[in-house]
Amino acid sequence: MINKITKNALAIIFFYSLFFSIVSCGNKQSSNENEINQTINETIKDAVPDYTVGEGLYTKHCSGCHQNNGEGISGAFPSLKGEAVELNSIVNGIEGSVMIAYKGKLSDDDIAEIANFINHSWGNNFSEVSTDDVKAMK
Ligand code: HEC
Repeated sequence: MINKITKNALAIIFFYSLFFSIVSCGNKQSSNENEINQTINETIKDAVPDYTVGEGLYTKHCSGCHQNNGEGISGAFPSLKGEAVELNSIVNGIEGSVMIAYKGKLSDDDIAEIANFINHSWGNNFSEVSTDDVKAMK
């Protein structure tokens, strides 16, 4: 015979376990949500390229001659707008001009960052330059 106290105890245990399973299920869901949000954020970060590092380097090393708008100064410094960047000129310089070689001055990564900034600025929309592309120019 199950007496009243045992019945009540079973009822309490039942509701407690129901309560905790709902709570833990809720937690699982929110940690899944966090994982999904993190994956979404990482995917967005990978999908939207960021040229701010290249922009900073360009401003520091190049804009004095080629100008912030990339248009240069007619008759003195060529415009970098409208055609894919000449990586060779940046890496090895242009002999007999003030356009020096940057291979000893900047890292391959930095040169690639600058080239990508140029290739994606002022209306330019040219292909991505990799660090290996820079190495191959040497
Ligand atoms: C002291 C001024 C000066 C600085 C600083 C300078 N350049 Fe130049 N750059 C020139 C000149 C002048 C030429 C053209 C040389 C020639 O053709 O005789 C040139 C040419 C180029 C070219 C070839 C473009 C073409 O159509 O001929 C590229 C690309 C270029 N520069 C990129 C850069 C980048 C990137 C930087 C910074 C890392 C930089 N330059 C810094 C003066 C400069």
